[in-house]
Amino acid sequence: MDPTTSLSRSALMFLSRREGLKEAATRVPALGRVARRFIAGETLEDAVAAVKELNARGITVSFDHLNEAVRTPDETRAEVAEYLRLLARIDQEKARGNVSLKLTQCGLLFDKELALANAREVVAEAKRRGSFVRVDMEQSEVTQATLDVVRALHREFGGKHVGAVLQSSLYRTEADAKALCAEGIRIRLCKGAYLEGPDVAYQDKREVDECFLRTMRVLLDSGLYHGIATHDERMIQETLVHAKEKKLEPGAFEFQMLYGIRRDLQELLVGEGYPVRVYVPYGKHWYPYFMRRLAERPANVWFVLKNFMKG
Ligand code: FDA
Repeated sequence: MDPTTSLSRSALMFLSRREGLKEAATRVPALGRVARRFIAGETLEDAVAAVKELNARGITVSFDHLNEAVRTPDETRAEVAEYLRLLARIDQEKARGNVSLKLTQCGLLFDKELALANAREVVAEAKRRGSFVRVDMEQSEVTQATLDVVRALHREFGGKHVGAVLQSSLYRTEADAKALCAEGIRIRLCKGAYLEGPDVAYQDKREVDECFLRTMRVLLDSGLYHGIATHDERMIQETLVHAKEKKLEPGAFEFQMLYGIRRDLQELLVGEGYPVRVYVPYGKHWYPYFMRRLAERPANVWFVLKNFMKG
């Protein structure tokens, strides 16, 4: 990564964590309009409309009710209630989709037991409705705690109803992938959206990519159904090559992408018979998610500025 890109990325990630800005940003209508490129909308109805459109194009989804780093038990209860509503709605609409949940949304930053109890309620409902909960991965301070909770839920509910996420930016990921696969836990592999230090993470994009490819091979060779989550054409191409070498059927794994990013690639893969799932975030607390999307591609800042100037 060149120094200017790296600096803009750090600045955007720094801004993504500013509590004061979170509140202020969501009150600026023009910014909300721009965020809509990456976010289905602020309400469950907006998310359902987006999903209908994606399902009609042969794409499945994973819904994410946006909120993270929640600080009070009451707020975590409101998040659980929203997820129960969401699972019921997916069922009613017969939408082809599951849910993604963040443990800091369930209270992980202040009470690990509460986070486990909250996540357990969501996974129990998912099991009752024949659905699946993907536990998103957040900053490295919570990696171990997140995997501990996923393992506890997996022991209780089984691999069909809960799965983990691993980030190829972290040194530990390849070993985590081997251990989780041996336990029968389904994984979403991504590069990692958080800014991490050299004590825990690769700093060079090439190393992150190489770790992605090594881990992808561990996943594809495991015989479990995993998600390869990337918009990087090289990562996708290498996944296809490895799958062909191992004579895997197209339905042996799925590709996953984010709402609003590389629609062309999503359609190309669906056209070739590969399952594609799109991550559909919605809700009022879109600011940190939106800022991470800008940080991934600082060129997106120009898109924001252009739209701002249009008014
Ligand atoms: P990379 O960043 O190298 O981008 C490759 C190409 O993709 C770019 O050249 C560009 O064309 C396109 N692209 C990527 N990001 C873009 C953007 N924001 N705007 C426009 N174009 C863009 N992370 C995490 O830490 N925890 C998690 O739980 C998840 N969950 C998750 C689910 C799903 C379904 C996906 C696809 C991704 C995540 N992520 C995540 C985010 C992930 O870690 C990563 O930050 C982004 O996917 C970007 O990385 P790429 O693999 O796309 O490669």
